[in-house]
Amino acid sequence: MNTQLLNLLVLLVFAPISCFLLLVPVSGKVFLSIDCGSSSLKPRTDNNSIVWVGDGPYIQTGEVHKVNIPAQIPDFDSNALNTLRAFPTRKKNCYSIDLDSKTVNSSRFLVRANFYYGNYDNKSSPPTFNLQFNGNNWEQITTTNDSVLYTEVVFSLNNTNNINVCLAQTHLDNIPFISALEVRSLNSNIYGYVPSEFPLLFQLRTAFGTNKTVRYPEDSFDRIWSSLGPLSNPSTLRRITSDAPSININSTIDKPPEAVLRTALLLFNSSEDIAYSDTTNLTGPWFFNAYFSEPIKLNSTQKRSFNLVVNANKDDSLFFPENPLIPPYGGALEVHIANVSTFNSFFSLAFFRTNDSTLPSLINALEAYTVGAKLAQGTNSNDVKALGLLQKSFIQLQNWNGDPCLPSPYTWDWVACSDDTDSPRITALNLNDFGLIGTLPDFSAMDALKTINLRNNSLTEDIPEFLGTFPELTVLDLADNNFLGTVPSSISNNVNLKFTATGNPNLSCTPTSICNTDPASRIPPPSTNTNTEPKIPSPADKGKSSKTLAQPIIILLIMFSGFLL
Ligand SMILES: *[C@@H]1O[C@H](CO)[C@@H](O)[C@H](O)[C@H]1NC(C)=O
Ligand SMILES: *[C@@H]1O[C@H](CO)[C@@H](O)[C@H](O)[C@H]1NC(C)=O
Ligand SMILES: *[C@@H]1O[C@H](CO)[C@@H](O)[C@H](O)[C@H]1NC(C)=O
Ligand SMILES: *[C@@H]1O[C@H](CO)[C@@H](O)[C@H](O)[C@H]1NC(C)=O
Ligand SMILES: *[C@@H]1O[C@H](CO)[C@@H](O)[C@H](O)[C@H]1NC(C)=O
Ligand SMILES: *[C@@H]1O[C@H](CO)[C@@H](O)[C@H](O)[C@H]1NC(C)=O
Ligand SMILES: *[C@@H]1O[C@H](CO)[C@@H](O)[C@H](O)[C@H]1NC(C)=O
Ligand SMILES: *[C@@H]1O[C@H](CO)[C@@H](O)[C@H](O)[C@H]1NC(C)=O
Ligand SMILES: *[C@@H]1O[C@H](CO)[C@@H](O)[C@H](O)[C@H]1NC(C)=O
Ligand SMILES: *[C@@H]1O[C@H](CO)[C@@H](O)[C@H](O)[C@H]1NC(C)=O
Ligand SMILES: *[C@@H]1O[C@H](CO)[C@@H](O)[C@H](O)[C@H]1NC(C)=O
Ligand SMILES: *[C@@H]1O[C@H](CO)[C@@H](O)[C@H](O)[C@H]1NC(C)=O
Repeated sequence: MNTQLLNLLVLLVFAPISCFLLLVPVSGKVFLSIDCGSSSLKPRTDNNSIVWVGDGPYIQTGEVHKVNIPAQIPDFDSNALNTLRAFPTRKKNCYSIDLDSKTVNSSRFLVRANFYYGNYDNKSSPPTFNLQFNGNNWEQITTTNDSVLYTEVVFSLNNTNNINVCLAQTHLDNIPFISALEVRSLNSNIYGYVPSEFPLLFQLRTAFGTNKTVRYPEDSFDRIWSSLGPLSNPSTLRRITSDAPSININSTIDKPPEAVLRTALLLFNSSEDIAYSDTTNLTGPWFFNAYFSEPIKLNSTQKRSFNLVVNANKDDSLFFPENPLIPPYGGALEVHIANVSTFNSFFSLAFFRTNDSTLPSLINALEAYTVGAKLAQGTNSNDVKALGLLQKSFIQLQNWNGDPCLPSPYTWDWVACSDDTDSPRITALNLNDFGLIGTLPDFSAMDALKTINLRNNSLTEDIPEFLGTFPELTVLDLADNNFLGTVPSSISNNVNLKFTATGNPNLSCTPTSICNTDPASRIPPPSTNTNTEPKIPSPADKGKSSKTLAQPIIILLIMFSGFLL
């Protein structure tokens, strides 16, 4: 093919972000915008008719901070960014959103997390940390001093009506924070060509022809279509607005808003075609959705027709099977481009007019995503229910949200889990020194427990019989509590159990050995039974996930001389 690189334009796309959770049911759909760090009980409607709520109902941990923001942050609701919630303690802290089960069936969900550091802590040290959703890794977030970052994931729920978003510390002294959190239901068909076991991690969504960001209410799902803003080189690039009275998007799967199809971008020199390229080093394949609409009512001698070529700089670059592409007037063409990877330090999507085309190629909008790892099922549901009973009984445990075990190694601080990364079991309860007051609920469903440590609380009444019946239990520490009565036979007869109940003044401990047994000292030492201690991730373990969508995306528009022959 006879192409030549004429020119490169570098355009910085500013990735905006904010942090809030707000639940606004719209005809059975979820449209929740949470203003993180805002304690406001009164919903607030912004300039885009988006209703924001405070985050109190969705999280109980973290600290609230005010943020100084510039007078205007283009495309963002500055009120949503002028507070944040930061998390100086715990491995992870989670927002938890319970949905009406009626809404859960309906759809996939788009979740967007927004971050604006704004030097809230006066340290001029924007942190890096990890973001997680429903027990899955999402993204590593690297914040900056003064730009808004956001990142988006689209996924389906399976066997749960809860959406949770967790912030996990990955670097020493880097305190995670969030400014706004948004949850939107999508129609079940939207992005439905990706199997529902996999999340879509969005990398890019640009409306090339518009001069301002398009989102709700133009996009009823509130996807954010970034604009290139004022064209950096108006003598090279040109926007064109459709003269069609209306644009029917019904033929598309993903229902882009009409506003992004109404305008397109093309090159000023009408003998040159447009291409999109990027120097991002793609570590995994990207998937694109490209959208086109013919802006001019063509007469019988006019034709706009072009071929998509991926990585035209590659000798064996393949023509796209759906070629040639002919945008419909008053309608929309959606094209899916799979498996795009970097070649020679960049990748490109070039649109070369066909030899019978009288008009140059153009583009209206482009989305790009990567497909994440298969969604985890989450910690064993019996274990989760039993943890729920403990949380109901003890107020100290009530502000732990999100998946107790996943993603590994970000467990709740007081449990340990088996290694299974899809549906792990709880193997240890480390509740010593928690100030628990009262009686233990029956958590016998947690039958993979190996260690139960309840030392130094104020637990009372008889020691429950079920504590001795866990098949794999090897350590049971009830010392320094206020248990009454006698040691149940399930415990005293359990020869595998290292059991301690000293320091319970009203517990009958005769002979004294009954309250302090160690199989190691009684029987031949058993094969070392690994007592699963909670794994505290070392900084080196953390922060391995992919680059954040929120970073500015560099777009190179490459002009190819002539067309493809
Ligand atoms: C909303 O729009 C008005 C008028 O354009 C503007 O003055 C105001 O700053 C905007 N509010 C926010 C929070 O961006
Ligand atoms: C949700 O879907 C399941 C299976 O498809 C069905 O059994 C259930 O009735 C649905 N629930 C609602 C509230 O529509
Ligand atoms: C940051 O500095 C400002 C002005 O010096 C002060 O008002 C504010 O309290 C400080 N904030 C923190 C978190 O230290
Ligand atoms: C943030 O600002 C401080 C002070 O201006 C600077 O030292 C630091 O390098 C900046 N950090 C980033 C990530 O830009
Ligand atoms: C939903 O969960 C069930 C088990 O609870 C599993 O068998 C099934 O594969 C899951 N479906 C999807 C789409 O993830
Ligand atoms: C943005 O585009 C609209 C419609 O095409 C136009 O009316 C408006 O003047 C443009 N604004 C800027 C700042 O270019
Ligand atoms: C698009 O589809 C919707 C729902 O099926 C229908 O109401 C609408 O009339 C259609 N629009 C056009 C222009 O055909
Ligand atoms: C791109 O990423 C791969 C894998 O991470 C790495 O091996 C390669 O050196 C990177 N290339 C550039 C140009 O950074
Ligand atoms: C079609 O439109 C073009 C551009 O406006 C014009 O030059 C040409 O004469 C028209 N042809 C016919 C057959 O109307
Ligand atoms: C992408 O590439 C992988 C590996 O080559 C292949 O298994 C997969 O089917 C491709 N996906 C699509 C949608 O073409
Ligand atoms: C256009 O190209 C095709 C094959 O690429 C060729 O068969 C056809 O003759 C060409 N048409 C013109 C008008 O050159
Ligand atoms: C337009 O592009 C063609 C092909 O690259 C070139 O020959 C011509 O000089 C360009 N025209 C202008 C005005 O730049």
